Amino acid sequence: MKVGIIKGNGIGPEIVQATQLVLEATSLQFEWIPIPIADEGLKQYGHPLPSEAVNLLKEIKLAIKAPLIVNKLQGRLACRQPDGSEIVYPSLNNAIRRELKLFVNPRPIRGISGLSEPHHNLDTIIMREITEDVYIGWEHRIGDHAAQAIKLTTREAATRLARYAFEYAKSNQRSKVTCIHKANVLNYTDGLFLECCRSVASKYPEIEFDDLMIDAACFHIVKQPELFDVVAAPNQYGDIFSDLCAGLAGSLGLAPGANIGDDTAVFEASHGAAPDIAGKGIANPIALILSGALLLRYAGYAREAGLIESATYSVLEKGELLTPDLGGTAGTMEVASAIAHAVREPVIA
Ligand code: NAI
Repeated sequence: MKVGIIKGNGIGPEIVQATQLVLEATSLQFEWIPIPIADEGLKQYGHPLPSEAVNLLKEIKLAIKAPLIVNKLQGRLACRQPDGSEIVYPSLNNAIRRELKLFVNPRPIRGISGLSEPHHNLDTIIMREITEDVYIGWEHRIGDHAAQAIKLTTREAATRLARYAFEYAKSNQRSKVTCIHKANVLNYTDGLFLECCRSVASKYPEIEFDDLMIDAACFHIVKQPELFDVVAAPNQYGDIFSDLCAGLAGSLGLAPGANIGDDTAVFEASHGAAPDIAGKGIANPIALILSGALLLRYAGYAREAGLIESATYSVLEKGELLTPDLGGTAGTMEVASAIAHAVREPVIA
């Protein structure tokens, strides 16, 4: 199987190596294809997201992406389009998603017995819209005294996201979809998002539907995580809410994710490049390893994906080999080796 590799920066290269080790422990054969993005793109083509990298990703259709450091105040990136025009994206990560026309960022997160207390029964998947909202990057300064950003919601994107959430629920034995929004204040933008979710919900009578204001959703997930199943979210709320869920589970290092389009998909952890621990060999590789399992399931290898997930959860539940973010002292590759071993020699219950 050909899989593109965006090795990222910060802890990226360490967790990519760990993920490759675990994926290779399945019986599948991989051809890893390095994608020249960020420093490598600059070095080879003079641009952090060269069209050569975008075209390569479109051709391979599958990639594992490690996190990329984005400068807090100067992350904007201009990308030349085939017709000669230019689109300015708010960040390199946003540019990758939008150049590839990826539209949904599923972020599953579940609690672990003994590790995520009192949130061990958290088991949710956040379907985050990733083409619009305030992350479209249409913002500007007005003189020295003000700045303005546009929050974009279209019926087309909100309906596509809602359909994806309901279809996922239907084919994965999930019983409920919750739309999160702030439609009491943002009547038009979040109001339209909610309207589209309600309209799609009416076509899936077998799946329960409800909605919550984002602030209330944050409160309820802390108090009663079991209320949440599939969550349909606009871009910004989905981004923030998924980090909250990762915190409840115990670490950002437990939160995998994917970016899915019509025929290309890029799999990445929910967390960032963690520069504070980069190069120390202590980053938790589990979020990217579980993203690798999502890649296998997406590519039709459900058995191998299940093996990786069971192996990962058994290592976590045993609690003997944990990285420091989970209170342990194990290193990145030690955890990965234990998971790879459990993939090769699964314990049959
Ligand atoms: P972060 O997610 O990188 O780190 C937040 C905290 O969680 C840090 O204390 C970090 O050490 C810890 N952490 C994160 N992942 C971990 C892991 N796997 N194992 C152990 N601890 C982990 O968020 P932060 O610090 O806000 O961002 C750092 C950089 O990453 C920034 O440049 C940001 O723009 C970028 N970023 C990139 C993303 C992407 O490529 N998709 C997503 C989010 C942030």
